[in-house]
Amino acid sequence: MLRQKKIILGVCGSIAAYKAAHLTRLLIKAEAEVQVILTTSASAFITPLTLSTLSKRPVLTSFIKSDATGEWHNHVALGLWADALVIAPASANTLAKMANGYCDNLLSAVYLSARCPVFLVPAMDLDMYVHPAVTANLEKLKSYGNTLLAAGYGELASGLVGQGRMAEPEEIIDVLQQHFRATSIRVV
Ligand SMILES: Cc1cc2nc3c(=O)[nH]c(=O)nc-3n(C[C@H](O)[C@H](O)[C@H](O)COP(=O)(O)O)c2cc1C
Repeated sequence: MLRQKKIILGVCGSIAAYKAAHLTRLLIKAEAEVQVILTTSASAFITPLTLSTLSKRPVLTSFIKSDATGEWHNHVALGLWADALVIAPASANTLAKMANGYCDNLLSAVYLSARCPVFLVPAMDLDMYVHPAVTANLEKLKSYGNTLLAAGYGELASGLVGQGRMAEPEEIIDVLQQHFRATSIRVV
């Protein structure tokens, strides 16, 4: 179902960014085309080298490709290219930006430009996840038609136990497969 599907994987600054490597691997195994976009903060958690190797294409981290030549990454073209935009892990910060139309990095610009379905996979500590500001942003994002994969319950990086764990890569793959299966069915 994911064969030749064009997936943009946005990765934010969260300890759960390590799961993006496994998710990329599963997407490539399913023969999807994967374009990874890292926020600046995400690059401190997982390297572009790891994700470019796994995705088999350069990872994008900013608008500007080369200061010397003025080349840049076209967020509009990326938004139109994608069959699905998956943001995993989605940080509280990026969710807040997306909910309110902020556009200060490549990932948020691609989000605003994208015409494809968007899948949000939050990861954060339990108190952050239930904070009214975060809850309100998630509700707002759902009201825009985005799909939310709720965080799971369990032990968190902080050592606390509660809801906030990023959904497992296998679950994300299942959701994408279900989505593309549903959209491939044509009523005649
Ligand atoms: C060790 C560490 C772990 C973090 N984990 C998370 C997290 O799981 N979820 C989250 O929303 N923010 C987390 N943060 C805070 C974000 O990295 C911070 O808000 C950052 O500005 C997010 O930037 P981005 O949204 O551009 O990726 C963490 C910060 C640190 C230092």
